Amino acid sequence: MGFYRERVLPRIVDAACNAKVARPQRRRVCAGLAGEVVEIGFGSGLNVEHYPPAVTRVAAVEPADLSWKLAAKRLAAATVPVERAGLDGQSLPFADDSFDAALSTWTMCTIPDLPAALRELRRVLRPGGTLHFLEHGLAPDERVQRWQHRLNPLQKRVCGGCNLNRPIVQLIRDAGFEIRELDVYYDQATPKPFGANSLGVAQT
Ligand SMILES: C[S@@+](CC[C@H](N)C(=O)[O-])C[C@H]1O[C@@H](n2cnc3c(N)ncnc32)[C@H](O)[C@@H]1O
Repeated sequence: MGFYRERVLPRIVDAACNAKVARPQRRRVCAGLAGEVVEIGFGSGLNVEHYPPAVTRVAAVEPADLSWKLAAKRLAAATVPVERAGLDGQSLPFADDSFDAALSTWTMCTIPDLPAALRELRRVLRPGGTLHFLEHGLAPDERVQRWQHRLNPLQKRVCGGCNLNRPIVQLIRDAGFEIRELDVYYDQATPKPFGANSLGVAQT
């Protein structure tokens, strides 16, 4: 699994996440980001072009070395300073209250202990700081949920620990965030079990 996870999966993720349909969604979730931002699951930097000019610095948290390498061309074109500042969203190497905002896109499905990562985000965000999220997770419809539960073991094996059936918004609330904006929808280009998206902003 080491070779697949380290050498193959980051390339698959880079290609899959670079879908055209994802771009307007990335633009939407990045809108309103300002000041110092921490992005967890930075991947290959597909959000970089969407950071608004009000962002002054981005601390990228990404475990996969190859994803960081694949981000190079996007980082070269970035208008905002971005540094790889951490490797694991479950344990952030930052002081309390050190960021104005956080960003996570299609990452909360994969972090093994998501409640721990959400606690960490709350800790490093300043009071009133915002978490901008765009995530797939448990669908609103029971019929789709049943498929998600069925497919989840295979999805986890093939997609590096990605879960289809996490109740993402509930977990964000459980971590003590208040949901300020939320849009729940099925991605038009993706079968429903894989494309039940939640796009929103939560506040500490
Ligand atoms: C599906 S990819 C999404 C990448 C990127 N956010 C995007 O939208 O293109 C999930 C990302 O989460 C990263 N990841 C996995 N476990 C993580 C962890 N514990 N902490 C932070 N990121 C993690 C993976 O390496 C991968 O880059």
